[in-house]
Amino acid sequence: MGIKNKGFISGLLGFLFLDGLLLCLAADIHYYDFALQEANFTKMCSTKSMLTVNGSFPGPTIQARKGDTMFIKVINQGTYGVTIHWHGVKQPRNPWSDGPENITQCPIAAGTSFTYEVILSTEEGTLWWHAHSDWTRATVHGAIVILPAAGTTYPFPTPYKEQTIVLASWFKGDVMAMITNSIATGTNPTQADGYTINGEPGDLYDCSNETTYRLSVEYNKTYLLRIVNAVMNEEQFFGIANHSLTVVAQDAAYIKPINTTYIMITPGQTMDVLFTANQTLSHFYMAASPYHDSVLTFPNSTATAIVQYEGNYTAPSSPFFPTLPAYNDIDAAQKFTNSVKSLANEEYPISVPERINTRIYIAVSLNALRCSNSSCDTADGDRTAASLNNVSFDTPQIDILQAYYGSLNYVFDPDFPSEPPVFFNFTGDVSNVSMYTAQGTKARMIDYGQAVEIVYQGTNLGAASSHPMHLHGFSFYLVGTGSGNFNSVTDPTNYNLVDPPELNTVNLPKNGWAAIRFVADNPGVWFMHCHIERHATWGMDTVLIVKNGTTPNTSMLPRPTYMPPCS
Ligand code: C2O
Ligand code: CU
Repeated sequence: MGIKNKGFISGLLGFLFLDGLLLCLAADIHYYDFALQEANFTKMCSTKSMLTVNGSFPGPTIQARKGDTMFIKVINQGTYGVTIHWHGVKQPRNPWSDGPENITQCPIAAGTSFTYEVILSTEEGTLWWHAHSDWTRATVHGAIVILPAAGTTYPFPTPYKEQTIVLASWFKGDVMAMITNSIATGTNPTQADGYTINGEPGDLYDCSNETTYRLSVEYNKTYLLRIVNAVMNEEQFFGIANHSLTVVAQDAAYIKPINTTYIMITPGQTMDVLFTANQTLSHFYMAASPYHDSVLTFPNSTATAIVQYEGNYTAPSSPFFPTLPAYNDIDAAQKFTNSVKSLANEEYPISVPERINTRIYIAVSLNALRCSNSSCDTADGDRTAASLNNVSFDTPQIDILQAYYGSLNYVFDPDFPSEPPVFFNFTGDVSNVSMYTAQGTKARMIDYGQAVEIVYQGTNLGAASSHPMHLHGFSFYLVGTGSGNFNSVTDPTNYNLVDPPELNTVNLPKNGWAAIRFVADNPGVWFMHCHIERHATWGMDTVLIVKNGTTPNTSMLPRPTYMPPCS
């Protein structure tokens, strides 16, 4: 079943009076149908049935222009409830269509449907959509392409062609059964069997030769790759043999072009990358391999695809292979991340809040929880947990948005702490600090219009690693990052307030800190979590609730007449 774009209805979104001039803002409305359905796939020598959108993996790309609105009807033909999230779309005043399960809605039950209203505003570039229920996003995800508004162009020469590149994990087993079992027994989730590029593992994996994804290119033409990291648990290095890359956007915001031989992209992030096919006609691998900085084990293998030049030549017996940094090359990862700066020019200005009125300092930790009556199937009888400010998020049974909107006071507590309950040498010797945490369903209330600074502080508890922290409902400026403990006196003096990157997912470095800023101008209930799925499952999540302002235009849209019921 293909994707149904029922055509464009041009509408006048609104009228603006500017200095007595009447300006019309035209935006398009797009309609898509997403059928959630089981489909059989064979990869790495084994076959399974898995949940997909419209039978495809990765799922369909949806496309719009900056400022457009998309209505996506999700028809659940599967066997369990699911929700879908539009990752990086701010959804101004519209948390109702944001998607995280039991945060802004209850699941779309099997046999029912729900239509999301996805409202684009300032985003331009590449984003993505994914299921936001348990681990269903492993197979239910796809790209969102947001072209410049009509009559405008890219801030770089228009590429000859564009191609989405979706990086993902592949599990030979049934992901739903695996995660259900892992939660029930307190054991760690099974690791992926490998990685894919546009749905294919590539020929370094068994039984994967014939299906390798191939991108055919014409000599001397420039291509735009819209790269999405949909991998479940591992950050990735990515590169193309013999070709240099020019990164021009991240998380649907333009950046100052970076020329590089590799990128480091975390789960949740998206990057727009140009490359010119200017090498001798041949075949070249593009490859994605994990960046992994913790002591825990991980799937260490490489997904490949082939860039092949058109024309008459004898193809090499094996394509050229790119040199990517080693999996544990922290310096290479950090060097790339630190090179990202906003374009920040006249045409693409930024507005970083300079005076802050809400400060939140969040310790990000891996911990343990005791299992009642030795119910866990683990060596020490404990289960791995994770926390933000020592609260391990416990997902409620009724969505927090409904509870907030309807003043149900038993679903969550509005007292997520603004700083860690105990200060210790977060990134040093933590052998005297308790590993144990406690569960809670807490949200942080924020007044409309506050200028917010959040400093994420990595800790050395459990197994230290980096964490791609993601916030729904906003993009934010990454104003500073560093290693060790954040110093609230000296570190802010080095903030970049000139051209910090505007992101929706920031990589908090291992045993380091990252400071972000944004204005809380989007009323609603917004999930915030690590985008490493294991960590999110273990409780590395919380919720920001931005209260309504004083006018209708600064308040949440009314509740749609139909929202999926909570069972
Ligand atoms: Cu891709 Cu809650 O996010
Ligand atoms: Cu994490």
